[in-house]
Amino acid sequence: MNIKNICCIGAGYVGGPTMAVIAKQCPNIKVTIVDINEARIAAWNSNNFDALPVFEPGLAEIVKETRGRNLFFSTDVNKAIDEAEMIFISVNTPTKTYGKGKGMAADLKYIELCARQIAQVAKEDKIVVEKSTLPVRTASAIKSILDNTGNGVQFQILSNPEFLAEGTAVQDLLFPDRVLIGGDTATNEGQKAVQSLVEIYTNWIPKAQVLTTNLWSSELSKLTANAFLAQRVSSINAMSEICEKTGADVREVSKAIGMDSRIGSKFLNASVGFGGSCFQKDILNLVYIAKSYGLDEVADYWEQVIIMNEHQKNRFSDNIVKTLYNTVSGKNIAFLGWAFKKDTNDTRESPAIKVADNLLNEQALISVFDPKVVEERIYADLEYLNSRDPQENRTLLSVKKDPYQACHNVHAVAILTEWDVFKTYDWQKIYNGMQKPAFIFDGRGVLDKTLMETIGFTYYKIGSGN
Ligand code: UDX
Ligand code: UDX
Ligand code: ADP
Repeated sequence: MNIKNICCIGAGYVGGPTMAVIAKQCPNIKVTIVDINEARIAAWNSNNFDALPVFEPGLAEIVKETRGRNLFFSTDVNKAIDEAEMIFISVNTPTKTYGKGKGMAADLKYIELCARQIAQVAKEDKIVVEKSTLPVRTASAIKSILDNTGNGVQFQILSNPEFLAEGTAVQDLLFPDRVLIGGDTATNEGQKAVQSLVEIYTNWIPKAQVLTTNLWSSELSKLTANAFLAQRVSSINAMSEICEKTGADVREVSKAIGMDSRIGSKFLNASVGFGGSCFQKDILNLVYIAKSYGLDEVADYWEQVIIMNEHQKNRFSDNIVKTLYNTVSGKNIAFLGWAFKKDTNDTRESPAIKVADNLLNEQALISVFDPKVVEERIYADLEYLNSRDPQENRTLLSVKKDPYQACHNVHAVAILTEWDVFKTYDWQKIYNGMQKPAFIFDGRGVLDKTLMETIGFTYYKIGSGN
């Protein structure tokens, strides 16, 4: 089928950038992104391109080029479903916070609502594409809802997992390592549906990089990719603790093992822990699936990746307390960075949140500076934990608009995100304005140890032994 109209339900971190790039690369296809969140759609439609709901390098330029041409943002979900031959579901699938599978399974209520709405509205055959990360075999649930509540039209379900990483979303979408499309390989209609999505991507991606599989392989590949990536981070973080005890340097170890082509050099940066909306959720999801099939050893194996990550965050804050003479009560600590990684304003599961919570439990006073995260997001992240009264969070933690102001008069600076700009600061000036001895806890290993020690800092770098 030749696709002329695409609808994407969900204008978030996945739906927004993905559809903007499709619109840019396929000028003949009309792409409409819909969301029930009116404020979010208004922000996507705003002429203030610095305040789009998602910050990604290069994204504002693409929205500028395509919006009003063949890219549209709207809250009229029904109209967009009705018009489209192909509908992407790109809504959030958070970890369940209630009932069976609480804290582990993915909450599919938003997906189910979408499926019911599509079924109700569709008057012609539609191809429905799963874009959100979903547990294996969700496609059959979607299909069952569509077939049983629809108006007798035909639905084809495809799985097209997103592999973009935040902060590099536009580049990842323009030049992906591969695109994965899963579909019903047993029927003609299924193969045709797969082909119509292949044709969209081959407008700019070489055919050899567009991989087609059956539905379940596609769904499982997404969880597997994220589990492997997260496992690499936990593995190198586990080594970082050994390095600190033995006098090795984790960056030297990363380099040495990364040159083995069987291991590869990427994703070996030791850190204060991984964050982001995917890694933890997807592994918990995998663990839940394994357990539900009685595969306890498999479940335990992957769960250890999460346990290691929690440990890494906790040991970072423990080390701060221990180094500051076993008490941080009433002491000022500056946080540079709150986002879960550089070049994004996203804070979901950011290690900074847990580290801050631990230190606030010790009655520390925290001042935060992040180049892209807004104040209200930071307070919302803390409030979500429910560890203390929201007012107390606002009393103990302040958000600054200037890094030097955040670091002024503090006992210690903690680096939680690897923003490049942190390297360019005048660290002598920061040192001069701090309490002495002046401590830096570099949770991302971004600063130069020799330089910091020459200035006079007591400098701790994750994974670096003395
Ligand atoms: C290993 C290391 O590769 C080598 O760098 C080190 O110097 C010594 O240990 P070796 O044990 O000789 O080398 O063989 P290797 O190819 O690594 O295989 C080890 C085991 O893993 C074998 O039983 C192999 O069958 C198994 N394996 C390897 C798998 O089951 N699957 C794989 O994908 C790779
Ligand atoms: C991830 C996957 O990379 C992407 O393919 C998938 O589509 C969504 O999930 P994302 O969460 O956006 O993307 O960012 P990613 O670059 O994977 O980083 C995740 C976390 O791991 C960040 O907190 C990052 O700081 C941390 N990380 C990553 C490390 O600590 N060390 C590394 O070497 C790499
Ligand atoms: P992701 O990182 O997966 O893109 P986000 O939370 O950033 O997740 O985006 C998901 C978006 O989906 C949100 O803006 C939310 O309002 C939207 N959404 C959720 N359920 C529906 C629905 N039934 N109809 C339309 N939009 C929805």
